[in-house]
Amino acid sequence: MIRILAIETSCDETAAAVVEDGQHILSNIVASQVELHARYGGVFPEIASRAHIEAIVPVIEQALKDAHVGFGDLDAVAVTYGPGLAGSLLVGVNVAKGIALGRNLPLVGVNHLEAHIYAHWLEGQPQGLPQQGQPQGSPQQGQPRGLPLLALIVSGGHTELILMHDHGRYEYLGGTLDDAAGEAFDKVGRLLGLPYPGGPAVQKAAEGGNPDAFHFPRAWLEESYDFSFSGLKTAALRALEKYSTPPKGRLLADLAASFQAAVVDVLATKTVQAAEDLGATAILLCGGVSANAALRATTAKRAKVPVDYPPPALCTDNAAMVGACGYYRFIAGERAGWDLDVVPGLRLV
Ligand code: KG4
Ligand code: ZN
Repeated sequence: MIRILAIETSCDETAAAVVEDGQHILSNIVASQVELHARYGGVFPEIASRAHIEAIVPVIEQALKDAHVGFGDLDAVAVTYGPGLAGSLLVGVNVAKGIALGRNLPLVGVNHLEAHIYAHWLEGQPQGLPQQGQPQGSPQQGQPRGLPLLALIVSGGHTELILMHDHGRYEYLGGTLDDAAGEAFDKVGRLLGLPYPGGPAVQKAAEGGNPDAFHFPRAWLEESYDFSFSGLKTAALRALEKYSTPPKGRLLADLAASFQAAVVDVLATKTVQAAEDLGATAILLCGGVSANAALRATTAKRAKVPVDYPPPALCTDNAAMVGACGYYRFIAGERAGWDLDVVPGLRLV
């Protein structure tokens, strides 16, 4: 049994978790800074790193307490070292180093994007997912999933289609040329007069709205797995310019539903197409935007292979996913040195 303390501070959530064997969540604490950043309509980096410094020790203490373990019960410390905000990442990385050094524990550096994919290996997810070293495509208990798997990573900073050939082996298929999907939700949410973060607020506002009320553009970028959301954002701005006050009631619901439908249409269509083209055995929806109910439903409806998505709390930033990913890196023998540095622009491939 391998027990990992995982730490995540890449953006505006201070998070710590204890995860056993990359799967069992013994604890999962997330201290959100949403209220601190809401008045700026987005994450204010300087405030984020300060808030991480204040929250990190109590969050880790709570994670150990909830898991009923002490430092002596741990086998390793895993920490996100990128991508993300430099000042935020630094807090997690330095605390993780301090614990690992002080308690003589191995340190594992985790890529935040890869961690979003590994949320699918946490318990409660289809446990037919391939384990490390397992022959490709061999069935497990539950519904079998073989390799390769197609991951759509959609968050506040990223929109990427990744083909996962094996644990730690990824192929980049395409990504956004401008805004990330979550960024588009956040920006349009602000235009609609909704609170930050825009994603969940737009989804809520869209309830009962007519997704065909406004014909927002879809950037298909034919013959590629790339995305573009800046034109859609501009179209939403133009549609809103006609009104002198922030939209309310039916109009707000229709605008939110039409915008959401345009984002979801492109994401789902390209993901389903890529899965078919590349022979993926399943689609893994990953990252904060994969909490979106319309994205889940539309992708599942259109795909010919199973579409997996973690519960919303494991889609948005958390440390349990870092513990799952850290476990697979740990059993593959990966260790970080004391010179582990933050890499704000870290890529998966
Ligand atoms: O993965 P995440 O928590 O942080 C990053 O790594 O960026 O993703 C945050 C993003 C935000 O842009 C937020 O608006 C979006 O995920 N989001 C959603 C929903 N929940 C969170 N977007 C659409 N629908 C949702 N239900
Ligand atoms: Zn994230």
